[in-house]
Amino acid sequence: MVITAVPGSPNRNGNTAKLVRRALEGAYTLGARVELIYLRDYRIEYCNGCLSNGSDTFCLARGRCIIADDAELLKGKLMASDGIILASPSYGIQPSARMKNFLTDRIGMWTAYTSGFAGRYFVGISTAGGIGANKVARDLAFSSTVGFFGRAFASGWQGALVGHETID
Ligand SMILES: Cc1cc2nc3c(=O)[nH]c(=O)nc-3n(C[C@H](O)[C@H](O)[C@H](O)COP(=O)(O)O)c2cc1C
Repeated sequence: MVITAVPGSPNRNGNTAKLVRRALEGAYTLGARVELIYLRDYRIEYCNGCLSNGSDTFCLARGRCIIADDAELLKGKLMASDGIILASPSYGIQPSARMKNFLTDRIGMWTAYTSGFAGRYFVGISTAGGIGANKVARDLAFSSTVGFFGRAFASGWQGALVGHETID
């Protein structure tokens, strides 16, 4: 069993990353192979919208995105996983732009229309000062279960309200 976690915060040692590492420790203790992917360490460009501009280069036609960055590498790592932990701080009661750019814009169209994450189990984790952690965590957990072809499973989610504190 392979469990891969993707914290989408800019803070490598922030509240969200700390909760993610704790979750991965639990999975490791139970015998899983684990991998931690700090999204901030990878180059993920913006979607160039070729699906919508009449070009035949778009991801659904080619099976992969035409942009030469790290999005395909990370997509492959997630597809090779049995369980995926998606994590983000609440930014305006949404996942961070970094996470949305990767998950929704860059790989979301392909994974949804190919059911590319079918059968994988998703967990969402989020932290917030005072509002939005549970909502963001839940949205992340269900992100690949929705729509006609989203055939992943949402295993669970956990949001933590931390005020101005940092998690030890
Ligand atoms: C741009 C930005 C937007 C934020 N929006 C919210 C918010 O809507 N609600 C909230 O309670 N906290 C908000 N916060 C606070 C963070 O969610 C909170 O400090 C979180 O624990 C930071 O996680 P990190 O340490 O993993 O970066 C925001 C912080 C930033 C930098």
